[in-house]
Amino acid sequence: MARIKSVKALVGVPALPADKSVAHRAVLISSISNGVSRIVNYPQSADPQSTLSCMRQLGVQITTEEAEDQDDQGILIVKGVGLRGLTKPDKPLDCGNSGTTMRLLSGILAGQSFSSTLIGDDSLSSRPMDRIIDPLTLMGARFESDNGTAPITVHGAQLNGHNFETPTRSAQVKSAILLAGLFADGETTVCESVPSRDHTERMLGLSAIQLGGMRLISIRGTNHLAPRTWTVPLDFSAAAFFIVAGTIVEKARLIITGVGLNPTRAGLLDVLSAMGATVSVSNERERGGETIADLDIRSAALSAVTIDEGMVPNIIDEIPILAVAATQAEGRTVVRGAADLRNKECDRIDAICKNLRILGASVEEFDDGFAVTGPTRLTGATVDSFHDHRMECCLNGR
Ligand code: S3P
Repeated sequence: MARIKSVKALVGVPALPADKSVAHRAVLISSISNGVSRIVNYPQSADPQSTLSCMRQLGVQITTEEAEDQDDQGILIVKGVGLRGLTKPDKPLDCGNSGTTMRLLSGILAGQSFSSTLIGDDSLSSRPMDRIIDPLTLMGARFESDNGTAPITVHGAQLNGHNFETPTRSAQVKSAILLAGLFADGETTVCESVPSRDHTERMLGLSAIQLGGMRLISIRGTNHLAPRTWTVPLDFSAAAFFIVAGTIVEKARLIITGVGLNPTRAGLLDVLSAMGATVSVSNERERGGETIADLDIRSAALSAVTIDEGMVPNIIDEIPILAVAATQAEGRTVVRGAADLRNKECDRIDAICKNLRILGASVEEFDDGFAVTGPTRLTGATVDSFHDHRMECCLNGR
């Protein structure tokens, strides 16, 4: 139980964790590279730690080193074993609460010469895995699962390249397919109608082609991945809570330095700017193949906005905190085309609507989204995090 008091002003420079999405991918790719990689700024949070322990169970030696720069959160040294060097684990691989671990790792396990089982906590065991089972089966792997949910057993096989016209609109699915494509004979192509986060393509050095309104990413099977030094940027999704807090609290001024601003992740900045927020972005630079920048956030009066499905992938993890911003905006903010929020660590549409109502907001719930009419002065109450880290941060501003 955490007790949060309202504040009259908010001034400071919040310290942020490193980006989970980039961290998972850095460990996975380093593990199957041919040689020693370094990952600078690896986060201590539970999800990236689940990926680490799975890779160790698969025979990869991973050690830690103190970071030289005090702003960095630690360095991992990963002794990559090459694409075919992983060893069969002697017990199930526990992905904890992490959907990214289970889905992306399945892409790698699909190309192995052994079978392995992936398990997760109660929340992860209720989330849909058929979205990766179906495409990876088409590439030649075989799966056993509990009706499309974990535990899942992956029987690795020699994979064949495949064209995926419109897989589920998800960066996790796209990434599982691209990672499997590394092991496949021939070429594998994923075609996206709405671009989702592109860290995997960037890290594998793949370029996308725009064709008839679609984004095509292709990968060829290979025997060799070069080891690298990866630097994980600070997490935009964690910054999002402070960006909204700095906007809706009166007399606020927050400075965030060096946060990841990958365009496929930072859609919340465009949405908030359309609502009237004053977030200035400066000192744009590159860190580890990703754009980072400094943000200066000041309180602002907001007006409502309409979000449609084309905007959803680039703000998918920020929708809960956007809903909080909407309670302070003049008018009716509508979010549609976001049904996949029901498949996250909890049913986030249900959780957003329940909690905001308890706090006094005016909320309508739809199958694929919600509407919030504001502004409303929220009142203190007891609310539930539904064991979901993004809901918890919305509620306590961490
Ligand atoms: C993630 C992709 C998103 C996001 C999740 C992390 C990733 O999921 O919600 O927190 O690292 O690829 P979907 O792509 O399935 O929407």
